[in-house]
Parts: sequence; C-alpha cells; structure tokens
Amino acid sequence: MPVPRILVFAGSIRSGAFSIRTADAAVAELVRQGADVTRVSLADYPLPIMDEDLEREKGVPENAARLGRQIAANDGLLIASPEYNSSIPPLLKNTIDWVSRIRKDNGRPFKPFAGKVAGLCSSSDGNFAGVRGLYHLRSVLMACGVEVVTPQCSVGRASEAFNEDGGFREERLRHAMETVVSALVERARMLSTAVDR
Ligand SMILES: Cc1cc2nc3c(=O)[nH]c(=O)nc-3n(C[C@H](O)[C@H](O)[C@H](O)COP(=O)(O)O)c2cc1C
Repeated sequence: MPVPRILVFAGSIRSGAFSIRTADAAVAELVRQGADVTRVSLADYPLPIMDEDLEREKGVPENAARLGRQIAANDGLLIASPEYNSSIPPLLKNTIDWVSRIRKDNGRPFKPFAGKVAGLCSSSDGNFAGVRGLYHLRSVLMACGVEVVTPQCSVGRASEAFNEDGGFREERLRHAMETVVSALVERARMLSTAVDR
C-alpha cells in the first residue's frame, strides 16, 4: 500500500499559536495513521501582499514557488488555521493567493494545487473554535482545484484543550482529529496510486 505524503502547516506564525499546537496534534495523528509527514511553517515563506503590478514586474516570488514545489511533492495538505473576523487570516489567504498564481516551473506548466486533497483544522480560544473561517478556507481551496475532505477538527477553548504531551484532553477532539486525518490519508493514498512517483 502506498504511503501518502502529507504537507502540514499552520495558518499562524504567532509564538505559542493555538493553530501551531493543533498542527502538532495533526502531525502526531498523521504519523500514527502511517502518513509520511512534512511539516513547514509559513514563517519560512515570507511573501509581499498580493499585488498584480508587482506580479507583472517581478513575477511570482521565489518563496511562493518554493512552497508550491513542496505542495506538489506531496499528495495532500493538512492546514490548521485560526479565524480572523470569521474568515481566513491574511497570512494564509495571501500565501494561497500567491501559490495559486504559479503557472510554470523551469518553463514547464505547473499548478501546485491541482489534484491535491486537503484536510482542515481550526482553533480559537472562543466557543466557535474557528469553524466559521473553515467554510471560507474550504471554498478558497476548492477554487484553487484542491479537493477538501468533509470531516474537520475545530478546537474551541484552545487554551484549555491540550494536555502536557500536546494531545487533546477531550475524547471528542481526539475522535474529530482521528476522523479528519483518516479521511485525508485515505483520499491521499488513492491519489498517490494514481500518479507516477
Ligand atoms: C484581526 C483578528 C480577528 C479575530 N477574529 C476572530 C474571530 O472571528 N473568531 C475567533 O474565534 N477569534 C478571532 N480572533 C482571535 C484569534 O482567534 C486569536 O488571536 C488566536 O489566538 C489566533 O490564532 P493563533 O493562536 O493560531 O495565532 C481574532 C484575532 C485577530 C487578530
């Protein structure tokens, strides 16, 4: 059986971010379910605000191209994000927007998001758990050609949600993470058998 390759990142680079802790919990569950995990931080791919004048003058920034290659090298993505004003935080939206503008790599047609599958998690210290932002994130990713699995894991009251080893205190959240990861791994495995490695 092929080992699905999953790229994991958080939609926040804040020190101590709940979404980074949620991404950590996702990595642990992905490894438990047999995925080959690559973890990155958007802090390592700084990008200017999307500006079509800049794009026309200088092209897509190399950091977007680097992240695009990472995405392309994996079968699927797991994104753990906060919500800002019930929607996608600008760091994550800007990153997705730049990667969506990639058309070529080394002169060859290249669309990093095409044919990929994603699983989504959110977190917030509030009761809504960031879930409203995931509807927008889901929609944006689908517009980029990414299939998004239906289950998701939203961590509310995040300052109290994790135990010392980084796992969830509540069985309900452990089950939600297990479910989204299982759906992602299964679909990524199918996609990975469909392409030549
Ligand atoms: C501009 C802004 C808007 C926010 N809007 C929301 C919101 O709609 N819902 C929510 O639960 N938290 C909201 N928050 C609070 C974030 O959930 C909180 O800062 C969270 O810790 C950020 O995620 P992180 O811990 O992964 O960095 C907002 C924070 C900022 C800075």
